[in-house]
Amino acid sequence: MAAAFLLALLPFFISGCDNASFTSYYEKGALATASPIATQIGEQVFAKGGNAFDVAVAVGFALAVVHPEAGNIGGGGFAVIRDASTKEIKALDFREKAPLASSEKMYLDSMGNPIENMSTVGADACGVPGTVAGLYELWKEHGSMKWSELISYAILLADSGFMVNSYQAESFNKYRDRLSVFDESSRLFYPNANIWQEGDTFVNRDLGWTLVQLEKDGLESFYAGEIADSIVATVKRYGGLISHEDLASYQIKWRKPVSFTFDSLQIYAMPPPSSGGLIMGQILKLVEAYDFSIYKPGSIEYIHLFCESARLAFADRSEYLGDPDFYNIPFDLLDKNYISERRQLINLNQTNSSLEILPGSIPIPESGQTTHYSVVDAEGNMVAVTYTLNSSYGSKLAVNGCGFLLNNEMDDFAIAPGVPNLYGLVGGEANKIEPAKRMLSSMSPTIILKGGEPLFILGSPGGSQIITAVTQVIVSLSRFNLPLEKALSQPRFHHQWLPDNILLEEKSFDINVKQGLLKLGHIIKEADMLSEIHAVYIDGAGLMSATADRRGPGSAGGQ
Ligand code: DON
Repeated sequence: MAAAFLLALLPFFISGCDNASFTSYYEKGALATASPIATQIGEQVFAKGGNAFDVAVAVGFALAVVHPEAGNIGGGGFAVIRDASTKEIKALDFREKAPLASSEKMYLDSMGNPIENMSTVGADACGVPGTVAGLYELWKEHGSMKWSELISYAILLADSGFMVNSYQAESFNKYRDRLSVFDESSRLFYPNANIWQEGDTFVNRDLGWTLVQLEKDGLESFYAGEIADSIVATVKRYGGLISHEDLASYQIKWRKPVSFTFDSLQIYAMPPPSSGGLIMGQILKLVEAYDFSIYKPGSIEYIHLFCESARLAFADRSEYLGDPDFYNIPFDLLDKNYISERRQLINLNQTNSSLEILPGSIPIPESGQTTHYSVVDAEGNMVAVTYTLNSSYGSKLAVNGCGFLLNNEMDDFAIAPGVPNLYGLVGGEANKIEPAKRMLSSMSPTIILKGGEPLFILGSPGGSQIITAVTQVIVSLSRFNLPLEKALSQPRFHHQWLPDNILLEEKSFDINVKQGLLKLGHIIKEADMLSEIHAVYIDGAGLMSATADRRGPGSAGGQ
């Protein structure tokens, strides 16, 4: 099997295959991921008769090997899934949790000021990982192939190594100083003094060993066995809090997706502890009432309307969203009357300071470097997975002898009211640190149906920018009638209330657009690129086309 598998990957190694093809059409199943190798593994699982869930599990483990800045077993994430046999759509929460010994002010000094880097680097920053439990649950509930077979692809990649492409080589080189702070990570990623070059082979036998334990013993080995021992020992060595009890008590949660309509689309998105579904829902419901016949993609008027709506939604995020097991969202953020009221605050002719925008008040109860992959099969099973270590390479701390990195997800909590996290997001009470609580996320794996039938599935990395990127693709498809690939390649923009500016993808917007936005009172900043969406579209005849965002190294494929 090893030889056949490596042979199958040969064309990839020869061609180098960076940014290969972007859209093709498939009958059996299709997927889009951040890595051409992971996509090829998905194609092989489909070829063996696997369903979308089998593919999602094999790809999840493969990305942990070939895309180690975000693919992971030391982090966590979410999946929104459609089970074709029951037509049920469900949300799987395998988000990290705060260690039991954590406390509200753990990242503040005696003066109440944040201690630099403490919530982002090293053992203090790590939440209790959920990825292994999440992938196991997907397989246990919906998989059709053997668990061991689905992991075997990743084991082979880790043990035999894979050739790094230019993107990966550049990424390893860029993070050398930051990862080398920890002996374990330095040994793993920089076994010699050489600069990484495209075509070099990255072997990770420690990860191979870890994956073999998972293959043999399933969840047990990670949350209670030798791997758990190594996690606890590494974290302890650097003064962190994760204990055996934290690992043994980790549990995934099935949740009801946030669901709403936009035009004729039925949208199913991630509920809290992600803010993704509700904030997308607010933005779409706010813009839905406007006549788009006067708007063009990328026009001043559309960007302004979208950003004004996003500001309102993100203001609510800061106040009302957190782990629903700890904090009750006090009202329905998608309530029709509430959305109409908030819409009154949008002025199409001018913006104002975000400081003048407050989170909406609770209506008086007259009524009451993440990575995303999308997989669909011919039966209509759909799996949208976004999982992450938080920032690239997470906490930068590798677990000794195990070949994988731990996350720095604790930074997604509001470490103090109003203190921005890595993505500039602020929060308070709803998202304060509490033992065993899940930190608020923006990850937005999303499934979209039309007339009850699968239409498309998507998601993205990018922190807070995930939400606006996914929302813009939905608007482009529904309001501007763009095909999926075109919808993905539209220049993106972002506003998240605070910081009070519009982020534009650089070199993508005309000077007139920038001038127009300045005139409306916006502050403009530019970013290299915003998000990296991986999506699958299903046409009326059931043909699937998968699209990987041109902005990243990903690839689309299928059978
Ligand atoms: O859960 C969140 O919202 C963040 N930890 C996601 C981080 C992310 O998307 C990084 N990718 N660029």
